[in-house]
Amino acid sequence: MAAKQVAIIGAGASGLCALKCCLDEGLVPTCFERSGDIGGLWRFEVNGPGLEKFEGWYLHSRDYKSPQSFLGKRVVVVGTGNSGIDIAVELSHAAKQVFLSTKRGTWVMHRVADGGYPFDFTYISRFIQLLLSLLPHTTTSFFMERKLNARFDHALYSLQPQHRIFDQHPTINDDLPNRIISGRVKVKPNIQEFTETSAIFEDGTREDIDAVVFATGYSFSFPFLEGCMKVVENQIPLYKFMFPPDLQKPTLAFIGLIQPLGAIMPISELQCRWATRVFKGLKDLPPSTNMLAEITQTKEKMAERYVKSQRHTIQVDYIPYMDELASQVGVKPNLLALFLTDPKLALEVVFGPCTPYQYRLRGPGKWAGAREAILTQRQRVVRPLRTRARERPGHASSVPHIFKVFFSIGLIVATLVYVSLSP
Ligand SMILES: Cc1cc2nc3c(=O)[nH]c(=O)nc-3n(C[C@H](O)[C@H](O)[C@H](O)COP(=O)(O)OP(=O)(O)OC[C@H]3O[C@@H](n4cnc5c(N)ncnc54)[C@H](O)[C@@H]3O)c2cc1C
Ligand SMILES: NC(=O)c1ccc[n+]([C@@H]2O[C@H](COP(=O)([O-])OP(=O)(O)OC[C@H]3O[C@@H](n4cnc5c(N)ncnc54)[C@H](OP(=O)(O)O)[C@@H]3O)[C@@H](O)[C@H]2O)c1
Repeated sequence: MAAKQVAIIGAGASGLCALKCCLDEGLVPTCFERSGDIGGLWRFEVNGPGLEKFEGWYLHSRDYKSPQSFLGKRVVVVGTGNSGIDIAVELSHAAKQVFLSTKRGTWVMHRVADGGYPFDFTYISRFIQLLLSLLPHTTTSFFMERKLNARFDHALYSLQPQHRIFDQHPTINDDLPNRIISGRVKVKPNIQEFTETSAIFEDGTREDIDAVVFATGYSFSFPFLEGCMKVVENQIPLYKFMFPPDLQKPTLAFIGLIQPLGAIMPISELQCRWATRVFKGLKDLPPSTNMLAEITQTKEKMAERYVKSQRHTIQVDYIPYMDELASQVGVKPNLLALFLTDPKLALEVVFGPCTPYQYRLRGPGKWAGAREAILTQRQRVVRPLRTRARERPGHASSVPHIFKVFFSIGLIVATLVYVSLSP
C-alpha cells in the first residue's frame, strides 16, 4: 500500500516535530508555512479603555523586538504573564521608567533554583510529581509560596495575588525583584482608562506615559478549518488536546496546543508520535461519546483548578500528560520492571529530571542510547558551567558513611512507594 500523505500546517516547533515523526513512521509529509521562515506563534488583540484617545505609541508584545526604541521613554507594560515580566525587565534597562500593570497580581517563580540548577531540572521529576499529587493542594501551595516569598515578599513588592501559586500558569523570572527594588519597574494596578498622554490606574493614580506594551496574551483560531472547528474564548473541544471527537475518520490532529509547566517541545514530539500511529491505523481512538465525556471532564477540572481567564483553557501537567500520551504510544517507562532489572536507571528515572529520553527506553521509537543519555544527563547540564579549569576540591566527604547508607535505603523505599502508588 502506498504510504499515506500528511499535510502539516505550520512550521513552528510543533510542525517541525510533526515532520520528523511522520518520516519516522514512513508517512509522506508536506509542510505548509505561510511566513517566509520556520519558527512560529499565535494571534492577539490590542485594546484598552480610551486607547483610541492615546496619542503615544502602543503595540502588542508579539511586535516587541528590542528595547532600543524605548530609550528614555515612560512605558506601561500591561499583563504579568511571562511576556509582560520579561519585557518589563528588559525595557527597564533602556526606558526612563517602566510601569507594570497587573489586574490581579502574580506569583513569580525563579528559573535558577536551589544550588544554581535550572528550576525544571530540579523540580520536574516523577517523585516530586507524586508528592504534589499526594499532598493536599493547600499544603503544597503553602510551602511553595513560602519559598517564593523568602526570595522576595510578594506583598511587599505589590505583586501578591488573591489566588494560590498553583492556580495560575507559572510566571518565571529571575530579575524582576531586582528591577523593582532599584525603582526601574513600578508595579501598578489595572488600567482604568487612557487619556491622550497618560494612563489612569484603578487606584486613581495617573502616570504620564509615552508608550504601552500590551502583553495580554494570545487567542488562537483556525480560519482554514472554519465550519469544522470552532474556538470560543480559547476553548476548543479536542480529545487529549489533540483530536476532534466527531470526525468520521481520525485524520486531523492538533500539535502543541497546550500550556504545560515545562517545555512544549517534548510534548509536541510525543503528540506527533501518537498522531502518526493513529493516522497509520495502528492505534484507534475511543468512540466519539467517550471522547466528548473526557473532554467535558477535563474542562471542568481545569475550570475548578485555575483562576478564570482565557489563558487557562489548555493547561496540562507536564509528566502526567506526557505519561498519558506515552501510554497511548506504548512507550511509558515501566517503573517496576526497571526497578527490578536496572535499579540505577530506575532511581534516575524516578528522582531525576523527567527528560524525553524516558520515552525512548521501550516500545515504538525505542532508542538504544536512551539509558546512557539518562544516566549522563546531569553531566550535560553542568558542563557548560565548567568554564574555568580548576582542581576539584578533594572528595573527602563531610557526610558520615552511616548517613549515606540511611539515605540510600530511604531512596530505595521511596522508589518502591512511588512504583506502587503511581498509576
Ligand atoms: C515570547 C514567548 C516565549 C516562549 N517561550 C517558551 C519557552 O521557553 N518554552 C516553551 O516550551 N514554550 C515557550 N513559548 C510558547 C511557544 O509558543 C511554543 O513553545 C512554540 O512556539 C509552539 O510552537 P508551535 O509550532 O506549536 O506553534 P507556533 O510557534 O505558533 O508555529 C505555528 C506556525 O504555523 C504557521 N501558520 C499559521 N497558520 C498557517 C497557515 N494557515 N498556513 C501555513 N502556516 C501557518 C505560522 O506562521 C507559524 O510558523 C513561548 C511563547 C512566547 C510568545
Ligand atoms: N520565557 C518564557 O518561557 C516565556 C516568555 C514569554 C511567553 N511564554 C509563554 O507564552 C505563552 C503566552 O504568554 P504571555 O505572557 O504572552 O500571555 P499570558 O500568559 O496569557 O499572560 C497574559 C497576561 O495579561 C493579562 N491580561 C490579559 N488581558 C488583560 C487585560 N485586558 N487587561 C489587563 N491585563 C490583561 C493576564 O491577566 P489574567 O491572568 O488576569 O488573565 C496575564 O497576566 C505562555 O504559555 C507563556 O508561558 C514563555
